[in-house]
Amino acid sequence: MTKSSAPGKIILFGEHAVVYGRPALAVPVSQVHADADVSDSERPGIWIDAPDVNLHAELNTLPSDQPIASVIHNFLFLARVSPFPDLEIKITASIPVASGLGSGAAVTVALTRALAAQLNYSMTDEEVNAFAYEIEKLYHGTPSGIDNTVVTYAKPVYFVKGQLMEIFKVGQPFTLVIADTGISAPTRESVGDVRRLWMNDKAGWETVFDKIGEVSFTARRAIEAGRPDLLGQLIDENQALLQKLTVSSPELDRLIETARNAGAMGAKLSGGGRGGNMIALVQPEMAESISAALKEAGAKNTITTRVL
Ligand code: PMV
Repeated sequence: MTKSSAPGKIILFGEHAVVYGRPALAVPVSQVHADADVSDSERPGIWIDAPDVNLHAELNTLPSDQPIASVIHNFLFLARVSPFPDLEIKITASIPVASGLGSGAAVTVALTRALAAQLNYSMTDEEVNAFAYEIEKLYHGTPSGIDNTVVTYAKPVYFVKGQLMEIFKVGQPFTLVIADTGISAPTRESVGDVRRLWMNDKAGWETVFDKIGEVSFTARRAIEAGRPDLLGQLIDENQALLQKLTVSSPELDRLIETARNAGAMGAKLSGGGRGGNMIALVQPEMAESISAALKEAGAKNTITTRVL
């Protein structure tokens, strides 16, 4: 039997603008993860057991565009596996779906690595990342590739679309509270809406993307220099620009305001927006009271994570 696990992720800075070539920063969140177990099966077929999405089926009974089925089909094609082996595949994930925590990419990466190990197909991280990017494209339209990259390498990533990703150093660890609005918001839709805005006024929105890119660039320098105290203001600036892009929402705004009022140094949405998660930069000793305030204000769940 082979097992593989991949972490969730959050985008610290630069979502949406990253689709238009500006830099973004993302970090893994190891408190949530996707896990895949693959073993030989006694019964003929490829049997998938994914209780979190209520999926218990043999591969060939599923539509080929079903997300998990599509990872398996594409992998078997890539690795030129023929005839199909008999396998039992179990997938579990503690990452909420469609909430900006990278659940899709984490399932793809964990499953791909477990399949590769079970079928003795050797894959470098670069190959896993490239494969996961192809899968992301099937579901997200025009993804930047940041999700699959941070999830594959499980390290803080400075990402510019089409360029080699850079792993960045965290000069001094800092603490984030992540809070879930509980509203599932497909990234594809907010990315599509931003594209429509941009089509109508490219010059105007390019200026907004430039400003977001500058925030990401400055934030990376502050993090590397061990100055997380400079990040609060940058987080707030990034949120104001995301609001301009129309990807915040009343629920996100309420949690962001709550976090700031409860003492966070800065707060913003993270990921596609419209729902999903927000993040707040907090002093470690404030994490508990800020989490409690966020729950009081309607957050469905909170995670405290230390960025190292
Ligand atoms: O919603 P998430 O966490 O998958 O992040 C989407 C990030 C975007 O910049 C909005 C889209 C992308 O492909 O980078």
